Amino acid sequence: MQLSPYTRGVVASWLPGREGALARIAARLQYTAAAAWQPQRPILEVGPRGFGKTSVLREAQRRAEADGMLTVWVTAGSEAGLIADIVAEVHRAATSWPTSARRQLSRAVRDVIVTVGVPGAAQVQTTLVPRHPQAAGNTEFAEFLRSTCEQAAKQYHKGVVLLIDEIQDANLAGLRTLALTWQHLQSEPPRKATVPPPALIGAGLPNSATVLTDAASYTERWEYERLEALTPDAAETALARPARYLGVVWHPAALGHAVQVTQGYPYLVQLLGAHAWEHAGNPDPGATIGESDVEAATLQATSELTTLYRGRWERATSGEQTFLTAMAAAGDEPVPRSHIAAVLGVQSRALSSPRASLIEKGIVMPDRHGYLSFTVPGFAAYVRSVASDELQADAASAAWAARRDALTPEPGE
Ligand SMILES: Nc1ncnc2c1ncn2[C@@H]1O[C@H](COP(=O)(O)OP(=O)(O)O)[C@@H](O)[C@H]1O
Ligand SMILES: [Mg+2]
Repeated sequence: MQLSPYTRGVVASWLPGREGALARIAARLQYTAAAAWQPQRPILEVGPRGFGKTSVLREAQRRAEADGMLTVWVTAGSEAGLIADIVAEVHRAATSWPTSARRQLSRAVRDVIVTVGVPGAAQVQTTLVPRHPQAAGNTEFAEFLRSTCEQAAKQYHKGVVLLIDEIQDANLAGLRTLALTWQHLQSEPPRKATVPPPALIGAGLPNSATVLTDAASYTERWEYERLEALTPDAAETALARPARYLGVVWHPAALGHAVQVTQGYPYLVQLLGAHAWEHAGNPDPGATIGESDVEAATLQATSELTTLYRGRWERATSGEQTFLTAMAAAGDEPVPRSHIAAVLGVQSRALSSPRASLIEKGIVMPDRHGYLSFTVPGFAAYVRSVASDELQADAASAAWAARRDALTPEPGE
């Protein structure tokens, strides 16, 4: 018996299909480390939930660390705000540094803290809540980053990389400070550079570009890389390789079938892999995963996904469900808001309230300008099936009512 090598719901150990994205990040980091003091364009990995953004970011972090860089990881969306979190994480990364280096850093930390309105560097780890986030100066934060880079270089780091996950959840003021800081650093005439500038790599939902440009229009020029569904080849590797590593093979027909079922959705790849592995009895080396395992796994994985979809559907009010039905009828691609309005025969404006609450519930998200998309793949198909069930139920009850009316004599007859 061997435990499943599949990584459902956790960061993936292998990232087939993401070599291109990782290579582009690596190239950007190398270029930054070699460049004079002038930060490069940040790269943001965007895509729906379950597409492997966090996995790409973690792997980029691992490689950057292996290359001798200092990495600072922040998952955006905390109470304290983005800038406070970055400051706190840098502080934490520095705990093993010699006192003199930390003292230098603390001086810069205090400057940032003073501008965000919280006195006392000692509170940085726990209570750094900006009282006047708007007042957070980009110059101070820029100085802080500069100081971080200088001290990191003294500790033999080749560079400093900020990694920001779930960037769409960051507070507006924090994003603005971050963006303006980057602009400030990029527009400065290069100093006589002694240390490389910081690099910024982020990840977020497809609405990240909209969120960022609303915060600071300059972020339009950042590089947004859309993580697409895995190609059939990549999905095949993602399923076959972890098994082969443990001496277990997939029967070719079963593998082909499994690849088809996943449609390249990375989360489903892992879910299906895990169920097939279990159904094959947590196989020992030499065993084969066959067609019956894939069939059983498909049933289980689909039913788990359906539970997830049902939960989301039931959280929607009936007005929101009508909205979702109109949206799903248009297909699986992002839908223009005007299209939904046209289908429902209302003005676009009339849809702003269901739209806002569905975004709030995490069921749909703004995509390109004026477009909406579902946050999990497969949900549109689920909505279409529920809607057609309901239509059929409606039709059946209408037919029943008609029959009953025909059979029931009118009073007085
Ligand atoms: N390239 C990949 N191949 C196969 N599975 C992957 C890949 N990238 C991510 N996964 C798996 O997909 C799921 C979602 O990954 P995650 O990185 O958390 O996505 P996101 O951050 O986009 O929501 C996890 O179960 C993870 O193990
Ligand atoms: Mg993630």
